[in-house]
Amino acid sequence: MNMASFTKLVLFSVCLSSFFTPGTAVPLRMRRDAASVTAAMEASKAALTQNAQQDAYIFDLTTSLNPTASTITTLPTVPANCAIYNGPDGECPTYFVASSVTYADCADAYTICQCSTANMSLSTAVDRLGRVPIGLRRYVATVALLGGDETRAYTLTTGDIHIFGDPQVDTWVHEAGHAYDFASGSPFSGTSEWLGAIKSDTCVPDKYSATSAGENFAQQIVMKVYSMTHNNTLPAGFAPDCMSHQLEYMNGLFLFNQNTLFGNTCAIEGSEPGARHTTAPLVLPNVLPLPPPPAPVPTSISNQQSTPVNSESTTGAPAQGPSAARKDNAAVALPFRHPRLMGFSTLLLAIWFSW
Ligand SMILES: *[C@@H]1O[C@H](CO)[C@@H](O)[C@H](O)[C@H]1NC(C)=O
Ligand SMILES: *[C@@H]1O[C@H](CO)[C@@H](O)[C@H](O)[C@H]1NC(C)=O
Repeated sequence: MNMASFTKLVLFSVCLSSFFTPGTAVPLRMRRDAASVTAAMEASKAALTQNAQQDAYIFDLTTSLNPTASTITTLPTVPANCAIYNGPDGECPTYFVASSVTYADCADAYTICQCSTANMSLSTAVDRLGRVPIGLRRYVATVALLGGDETRAYTLTTGDIHIFGDPQVDTWVHEAGHAYDFASGSPFSGTSEWLGAIKSDTCVPDKYSATSAGENFAQQIVMKVYSMTHNNTLPAGFAPDCMSHQLEYMNGLFLFNQNTLFGNTCAIEGSEPGARHTTAPLVLPNVLPLPPPPAPVPTSISNQQSTPVNSESTTGAPAQGPSAARKDNAAVALPFRHPRLMGFSTLLLAIWFSW
């Protein structure tokens, strides 16, 4: 082989490999439209000026959502999208064990990678993910369970969720909300409709919602799931009026179709694009009626604020602070490397072909 064709071969291998790099599972639409998506992402990251109605969410959704039956098998290998977080300085300094989890309402299995230092047991994680309503859960990709002193979580634009410590079901719904937001490649939270809805309102739910339009979107998803499981009422201490445009925007999403959100299959016609688990189970499970909302406890706003955060926790887990609970700092970090890489690869290919 002469030098020129060897160089070509090397170039070709580099080009080809960039298409298989972990994290390149960015929707095609994002590659075509990277600039506008970047703009949308930036818009959805700026802090909001609306008032927070409450310091934090003090409700959890565990008892309002049904668990889903599941089967768990250990996988022989750890997938690359988990393995890249394993290492002395990685999120998982020891080792991962990956499991395949199949829920009764979906034939496509979920992968859960559990670091040996993770605080959450696999069965707890499978239970909490299984309580995320199927219409939303179908947008979640892989879950990584990790250790750490701080309970928090973040979601990548690939739909992968990284969970640290022991977050409750409301946090899982919040992160699944990000996965849904990111799924099409053009986040809802960056649209002029969502930004306009926020602008037309004077408040957002809590302090964490005020950190950005993207966090507010995910927090409003948690709020909507709460109200749909509580006879269309908001949690104690929250009023609809000052955030009515945001609530209206949420109402307009297909996601919140009661029958499909709380249905018995991940195969949902007509829903927003980008779901990662979409194959109907062979046998559709019976849909359980949603648990009746717990009897309302009369609380005023002032005594709510003195209630410890996450007071409904039954696991004795450390308090899950509003912002400590969720850090989406890495949410937009990965994929934008790849459109550039793809562009570069395409350029190399073009040079090679015209050589
Ligand atoms: C997770 O477990 C480690 C080791 O047991 C502990 O030091 C840490 O505080 C725990 N983190 C949380 C958030 O509970
Ligand atoms: C739900 O709301 C309806 C109409 O306002 C009311 O009649 C019903 O009693 C409520 N149910 C519960 C469980 O609160």
